[in-house]
Amino acid sequence: APVKVTKICCIGAGYVGGPTCAVIALKCPHITVTIVDLNQARVDAWNSPDFALPIYEPGLEEVVRKARGRNLFFSTNVDKAIEEADLIFVSVNTPTKKSGVGAGFAADLNYVELATRRIATVATSSKIVVEKSTVPCRTAESMRTILEANSKPNCRFDILSNPEFLAEGTAISDLFSPDRVLIGSLQSQEGIDACESLKQVYSNWVPQERILTVGLWSSELSKLAANAMLAQRISSINALSAICEATGANIDEVSHAIGYDSRIGPKFLKASVGFGGSCFQKDILNLVYLSESLHLPEVAAYWRQVVEMNEYQKRRFSKRVVDTLFNTITGKRIAVLGFAFKADTGDTRESAAITLIKDFQSEKALVNVYDPQVSADQIWLDLQEASPLSSLENIQKQVHICGSALEACKNAEAVVIATEWKEFNNIDWEAVYAGMNKPAFVFDGRLLVDAEKLRKIGFTVTTIGRPSSVL
Ligand code: UDX
Ligand code: UDX
Ligand code: ADP
Repeated sequence: APVKVTKICCIGAGYVGGPTCAVIALKCPHITVTIVDLNQARVDAWNSPDFALPIYEPGLEEVVRKARGRNLFFSTNVDKAIEEADLIFVSVNTPTKKSGVGAGFAADLNYVELATRRIATVATSSKIVVEKSTVPCRTAESMRTILEANSKPNCRFDILSNPEFLAEGTAISDLFSPDRVLIGSLQSQEGIDACESLKQVYSNWVPQERILTVGLWSSELSKLAANAMLAQRISSINALSAICEATGANIDEVSHAIGYDSRIGPKFLKASVGFGGSCFQKDILNLVYLSESLHLPEVAAYWRQVVEMNEYQKRRFSKRVVDTLFNTITGKRIAVLGFAFKADTGDTRESAAITLIKDFQSEKALVNVYDPQVSADQIWLDLQEASPLSSLENIQKQVHICGSALEACKNAEAVVIATEWKEFNNIDWEAVYAGMNKPAFVFDGRLLVDAEKLRKIGFTVTTIGRPSSVL
């Protein structure tokens, strides 16, 4: 029969584990939730008296304020939390491998394996182990093998796959009212019981009909598939934006028109300078790697093209900036507004801004960067990682981090909008114009600003998915 869950442990206090389990704690006051992480600084931040949490996410602080110390705890004592829990979420990081077999494509499962082995070593009672990180298909199977090989008498492990579909920036509202919760299990009686136990946790706030239960492998593949199809929509619209720029069609009008088809739907059709984030590229490359391992090269090539189109979109945008600025940006100052991979997050993983700035650096431009949420340390870390051959001192000769959009635009030749932060719409564009060299250019990589309004002020505005001749 299904176990009634009263103690949950979450391994990994990152972008996924933190918000997800904080919301579970909020919605299930009868369950004790302990989120553990090896990273002391991260745990300290989650525990900070003034709620200076390690990640920025609208609404998160309120959730943590309500639940922390009541039935929500953050700790580095991984073993204790494992031992006490009846259900364990594994939400550790699964970056793309940087070396070895599948480098650049396959997921690095080292952290998942280490966490799984820790559970096997420490557990003295039965556990339901839930795979929450995005992982390649059949990871649950490997986790099961490790756990079973290490199980003790009266100590059984049931594995579930429960992928998280939250998007950063809207994590809390996504968790409060998810489109669906997906739980995959083995179809054995024990598997079905474990699935029911987790389902009861979510039933505290998610309507029954939104909790889908499927097989383990369907669940794992569905996560990769959902991200691949979302990314594919963006690459499709971005491919069309190139046609618009060359022909005089307007990508916003095209998106609007096709989105009215109920079979297509209006969401996720915003042309941009390219998608970023920790998931889309990683998951597609995972799918490519999986397809190749299964000897399905045509399938691999199909999905790979989604990532290639994204790279092309970023390159194309940088080139358009250079072309428009009379074919050279050497020594010119360019203000890059936004560094996060999307608005309402401080996360910079795979952000298009990193690629753009790197392109501007190699054209020998001077770059001013401003982002309302990303710390200077993070920006330097990302730029350093993008150009491993230059020293930080050299990077800092070309790049300056500014405290406001207005400051970043001072004495610049061009403004590049890389992230769709709302505040960029509300800056005093008259003042920006007054402080810039003339002609003053704006490149809107996010279809954010009212181009007509800026043209009236005097700017030359270039927008994704609109021809430059509209100048
Ligand atoms: C299509 C468009 O739907 C329509 O809007 C446009 O005006 C003309 O082209 P049509 O070709 O008549 O219409 O039929 P449609 O229902 O779109 O099916 C096209 C093909 O796709 C069929 O062979 C259908 O069997 C196949 N299909 C459709 C699938 O294989 N899977 C699906 O989920 C949907
Ligand atoms: C994504 C999925 O949406 C989420 O379900 C999954 O759990 C994790 O991956 P996330 O990466 O946090 O979430 O953000 P998302 O809103 O999907 O945006 C990803 C990237 O696509 C961003 O760079 C965003 O700016 C870009 N994007 C999104 C577009 O360029 N155009 C769009 O229409 C939508
Ligand atoms: P995600 O976006 O998937 O949540 P993050 O990198 O934000 O990824 O978070 C993953 C967290 O998991 C990190 O804070 C990392 O320190 C933690 N972690 C990785 N391996 C272990 C482990 N074996 N035990 C505890 N925490 C771990």
